[in-house]
Amino acid sequence: MKTKVLMVCLGNICRSPLAEGILQHKVNSEQVFVDSAGTAGYHIGNAPDKRSIGVARKYGINISHQKCRKFSPSDFDAFDHIYVMDQSNYDDVIALSENTEQSSKVKLLLDEIKTIQNEVPDPYYGGADGFENVYHLIDSACDIIAQKLGRKN
Ligand code: 4NP
Repeated sequence: MKTKVLMVCLGNICRSPLAEGILQHKVNSEQVFVDSAGTAGYHIGNAPDKRSIGVARKYGINISHQKCRKFSPSDFDAFDHIYVMDQSNYDDVIALSENTEQSSKVKLLLDEIKTIQNEVPDPYYGGADGFENVYHLIDSACDIIAQKLGRKN
C-alpha cells in the first residue's frame, strides 16, 4: 500500500503545487503518492502560478501539468499525511475535521524541520525572490519527509 501525502495551501497555485512536485521528485513513486489542494476555490482547474512553474523548472522539476483543486473533507480519509503551509491553512483544515483520527493527520510542513520559522509564507503578492525562498523552505522539509517515507533510489 502506498503512503498518501496531501500538500495544502490557500490557493493551490503557488506553495502546495511546489510541495507536491518537490516531494514526488524525491520519493519512490511505487511507495508514495503525493497530491495537493487549496482551502479556497479561487483557481479551480488552473495550472500553477507561472512563478512556481519557473522556480521548479530551474531546479529540474516539472509542475506545469498540475491542476488546482479544492480541499475536500473526503481527503481526511483518502490521505495518510496532510501537510499545510501556514497557520491559517491549519485552522481552515482542522475546522473541517470530524474526529481526532482526521485532525491528527494535519501538520505544519515546516514542523518537519526544527527551525524558528514554522510557516511557509504566501509568495503570491511578492516577487520572484519570494518564490525562491519558498522553494528552499519546502525543499528542506521534503528532504526529511522523503527520508522517512522512502527516498527514490
Ligand atoms: P498559495 O498562494 O496559497 O500558495 O497558492 C495564493 C494564491 C492565490 C491567492 C492567495 C494565495 N489568491 O488570493 O488568489
